[in-house]
Amino acid sequence: MIIANWKMNGTSENVRTWIEQVSNNIDFKPEKVCVFCPPACYLEFARDLIRNHKSQIKLGSQIINSSHDRALTGGLSAAMLRDIDTDFVLIGHSEQRSHLREDSRAITSKITSAIEENLRVVFCIGEDSDVKKKNETQKFLSEQLEVLKNISLESIVIAYEPIWAIGSGQVATREYIEEIHKFVKNHCQKFHYSEDDISVVYGGSVKLENCEEIISSNFVDGLLIGGASLDPGIFSSIYNLS
Ligand code: 13P
Repeated sequence: MIIANWKMNGTSENVRTWIEQVSNNIDFKPEKVCVFCPPACYLEFARDLIRNHKSQIKLGSQIINSSHDRALTGGLSAAMLRDIDTDFVLIGHSEQRSHLREDSRAITSKITSAIEENLRVVFCIGEDSDVKKKNETQKFLSEQLEVLKNISLESIVIAYEPIWAIGSGQVATREYIEEIHKFVKNHCQKFHYSEDDISVVYGGSVKLENCEEIISSNFVDGLLIGGASLDPGIFSSIYNLS
């Protein structure tokens, strides 16, 4: 799975160009799902373009709110995302955890709401540099993964995004990625799923220059790409090389 997370970037014209170019340039493989997560205001516009191009790009939302919070100004529910045929939603991204003070309870509620509407969840986890320096990454990630303990993992893709690698140009080494992805897959077996049922994608400074090495690492099932996904040419090349 190769996921483009545009964060708070782009215009409707950029969305149009991106969908057009990526649809034409990538060599779609059913086992390598391509997911586009534009800002929420462009979701429906992107959905129409994807349909018009008969493209196999899947649509993902960067945000969702718990279905319990009906009186929430600015909220976006799972039912609304389903209504416009969104396929995926990112939950637990470190930027949402820190900017919106999203805690485990809120994340669990969002995941449950998403699954009730048959959305597939990309659940993001990752440690900051302090945790890494203290050698406490695995303990920290175990705590983040606890929210999955009563959830069916069939609808979940886990995205490991070390915070220190996001937007920093400081990509994790192959050995580190393999160690952590292996740990995540093993840990999830506690929730009664086999290693093979659990997809773990990597995010954090993925670029054209490093994508082949990362995707060929053991235990890596895909990529979650921020900055390098904005350019449709670069994103298409990353997809084709991965
Ligand atoms: P960058 O690829 O820009 O480091 O962003 C990673 C990310 O946060 C994707 O969700």
